[in-house]
Amino acid sequence: MHKTDQILYQDSKKSAINKSRKEISQKIKSHYDFLKNALEDIKTTGSIASSSRFLVSKLLEKIDFSQTKSIVEFGAGLGSVTFPILQNMSPQAQFLSFEINNNFLESLAKIKDSRFKLINDSAANLCDYVENESVDVIVSSLPLKNIDDQIKEEIIKASLLGLKKGGLYIQYQYSLSDYSWLKKHFEEVELDFTALNIPPAFVYICKK
Ligand SMILES: C[S@@+](CC[C@H](N)C(=O)[O-])C[C@H]1O[C@@H](n2cnc3c(N)ncnc32)[C@H](O)[C@@H]1O
Repeated sequence: MHKTDQILYQDSKKSAINKSRKEISQKIKSHYDFLKNALEDIKTTGSIASSSRFLVSKLLEKIDFSQTKSIVEFGAGLGSVTFPILQNMSPQAQFLSFEINNNFLESLAKIKDSRFKLINDSAANLCDYVENESVDVIVSSLPLKNIDDQIKEEIIKASLLGLKKGGLYIQYQYSLSDYSWLKKHFEEVELDFTALNIPPAFVYICKK
């Protein structure tokens, strides 16, 4: 190899190594930040780790992004589901994301995308922000098991009002404790599962 080519090759190798080092340290920081918040308020956070990419792809695989004009997220956390939604959604679509934890909100506020609106309010108040029957998809990471029954009912009622007919409410959970409850509210509930998450998770794809 010519000397200049060799130097260029070594430089590009170094920059690739630095890039992956940076990515790894960002990932570690993000896991640490999530764990710190979870330990402060495990009831609201509902988990000790952000969703894995395997769980996120199960959550999003049933969404036809080309036909999705209005999407809502409940419980954004540090954005492990938020960013993939932004990457997949169409340029014309609108995305509202609900979060109530101030530390997470601070981090999500850095997202600069005209399609995205961060809402510092409970998912139960969805109808204050959307027209009835206007939402195509709701993706929820809410820790249903830890939420009081009355608030859970309010959240599902608001979701059913906000969703279009045939719209999807997609939710994950670490047990099947709310499977029958969701089946009471939605026309159809499809069940999926991934072991590749901490902890392993069930996914409910509920159709209005
Ligand atoms: C299990 S974490 C999910 C974080 C992220 N979406 C993920 O999957 O890694 C649940 C999130 O829901 C938020 N949350 C809990 N109750 C909420 C409510 N009523 N409205 C909006 N967000 C809520 C918590 O603050 C927390 O960030």
